[in-house]
Amino acid sequence: MTEVTLDERRFRERFDEFNEIGATEAGGVDRPALSDENERARDLLVEWFRDADLDVRVDRIGNIFGRREGREPDADAVLFGSHVDSQYNGGRFDGVVGVLGALEVVEALEDAGVVTDRPLEIVSWSNEEGVRFQPDMLGSGVYAGEFDLEYALGVTDDEGKPFGEELERIGYDGDAPCEPDGVNCYLELHVEQGPSLEDAGVSVGVVEGVFGFSWMNVAFEGQANHAGPTPMHMRRDALVGTADVTKAVRELTATGGADLVGTVGSVDVWPNAINVIPERVAFTVDVRSYDDDVVDRAVDRVRDEVACAADREGLEFEFEEIMRLEASAFDADCIETVADAAAAAGCEYERLVSGAGHDASYLNEIAPTSMLFVPSVDGVSHRESEFTEWADVVTGVEVLLGAVREQAST
Ligand code: GLV
Ligand code: MN
Ligand code: MN
Repeated sequence: MTEVTLDERRFRERFDEFNEIGATEAGGVDRPALSDENERARDLLVEWFRDADLDVRVDRIGNIFGRREGREPDADAVLFGSHVDSQYNGGRFDGVVGVLGALEVVEALEDAGVVTDRPLEIVSWSNEEGVRFQPDMLGSGVYAGEFDLEYALGVTDDEGKPFGEELERIGYDGDAPCEPDGVNCYLELHVEQGPSLEDAGVSVGVVEGVFGFSWMNVAFEGQANHAGPTPMHMRRDALVGTADVTKAVRELTATGGADLVGTVGSVDVWPNAINVIPERVAFTVDVRSYDDDVVDRAVDRVRDEVACAADREGLEFEFEEIMRLEASAFDADCIETVADAAAAAGCEYERLVSGAGHDASYLNEIAPTSMLFVPSVDGVSHRESEFTEWADVVTGVEVLLGAVREQAST
């Protein structure tokens, strides 16, 4: 097999240049989906795809593809990539490592004059993070047939701006159909976003699946009143109900299943004033486990806790599950391809499942899929201080290269 060598310097320079877009003072990036910064990041990516002679296509939900033909043009393609939207004030590695790593794989093959049997397609999915527009993984979800295109184009951000209009505003309302067409398999390199690999002292994680999860929107309505003269027994405080549910979510993770995690991550209080009893609170609950029954039971418990908290405090409530994704077990052969590539690259690896959500979950529905992780220092992500040692990033791209070459040979 022809030796293919990554150009580490090119890759590093690209990574740094890319992360100047939307860079924050604390060392992170702020490029939420369909923001001006996300537009600039997409523009730079497309420019680099074109420089690499890739055939670029943008589909109707804004997923960006860069294709390199193989020796067998009619063979199904190896699809690999990740996303370049970020959390609000997020980290530089989440998603970007997988997309720019994929580009480096293709460029290194080109440098070495290696043409694979199968076509190769790099993908950058639209709105993976789901912070500005919910649900998350919208681009891959439409692509895999999980969501209708019209529904996805109609979801709105907090200011009521529809996804479709914002996509058009930034010029990424592409005309390619948003559906799979000849996909042999999907591979994704990502940072772990948890502590397992660092704890195990290995540089690669072979990902066997992804947790299932549920996202819930909850609102409590009580009564605003003066914080001084209103006696305690006359209060209907929406924030007290919220605090009760927050505590209950923490408690249910202790008994609901060994790997169950639960988070109240976003809270909006109205009128949010020091001397006014909170009248209305809207908040979110996120629960996850690798066992779908555990997620089911946790959602039921959260719904019950919301009703009980409302009853105790005399509140009206609204409860809506806005997103449910079943746990994904990846394809056994694809998993072994990644494990073999890690072994061939001479690195120690650990097998694990992902607590974080990934586009790979939806891709797993339509094609054999697997992922590989590189360690996150201190298990930190979705934060500006998110960091992965550069040597580990490069190792991850080497393993991705090996896995792509293996899958791309017929
Ligand atoms: C996406 O990053 C998620 O796991 O929520
Ligand atoms: Mn990600
Ligand atoms: Mn993320």
